[in-house]
Amino acid sequence: MYKKLLACVKSIRKKTDFKPEAALILGSGLGNYAEGISIEEIVDYTEIEGFPVSTVAGHKGRFVFGYVKEMPVVIMQGRVHYYEGYAMSEVVLPTRLMGMLGAKKLMLTNAAGGVNESFKPGDFMMITDHITTGVPSPLIGPNIEELGCRFPDMSEVYSKRLQEVIRKGAAKCKIKLQEGVYVQFTGPNYETPAEIRMCRTWGGDAVGMSTACEAMAARHMGLEVCGISCITNLAAGVSEVKLDHKEVQETADRVSADFKRLVTEVIVSM
Ligand code: HPA
Repeated sequence: MYKKLLACVKSIRKKTDFKPEAALILGSGLGNYAEGISIEEIVDYTEIEGFPVSTVAGHKGRFVFGYVKEMPVVIMQGRVHYYEGYAMSEVVLPTRLMGMLGAKKLMLTNAAGGVNESFKPGDFMMITDHITTGVPSPLIGPNIEELGCRFPDMSEVYSKRLQEVIRKGAAKCKIKLQEGVYVQFTGPNYETPAEIRMCRTWGGDAVGMSTACEAMAARHMGLEVCGISCITNLAAGVSEVKLDHKEVQETADRVSADFKRLVTEVIVSM
């Protein structure tokens, strides 16, 4: 895996020597965020040998290098999900790659279902911690010593410093901010009402099919991590309505202008 990562770095370095300070992974609703930054270079995933390419319709697959105001960033426009059939080590390969390209900080975004009954669709939730019992660890397999240690600490996955940056950013943007614990499941099916009740007793506030694995891989290699979920729907059983991807997309699109403002505010202050 490390050899593969080095080969990916090499193929990107053939195209650009841009050195990002921060990395950003875009979730639903933020898909076109990268178009609004000052772009220096774009590398399609298909240009990178051996790179996992997303199969979800509407997900672009590329790295965008550039500046958000003064901050040099690499943006992952289109992520890879475990439910597509990739091994977890493949799912987190792009995250590791961004770290190897120089990023020291990572901001994660996603769409998630609201487990906490006080949440409403369209809310933003700053991730304070996560539960990954429902998915295999991306660190299973031979440890990549060059990146990090065998048994990495996970007691502060989401940096307290960056959490404060997000709180301040939301207040400055006058955007209401919820906080809570993100629970990752494999998907692609949505959860059952019983699974959502289980999440609640576990202390979960939102559920989704991404993000926590990327946060873990990033922490393994020492990146400072933060994350925000867009609560696109109430999770199964919280309301009467059946879940569908269209609702998720519609909510994400509805609040995307606010999400972009918040992300920009956080990126420039992180
Ligand atoms: N469950 C899992 N993933 C999701 C959801 C959900 O309710 N909404 C958006 N992503």
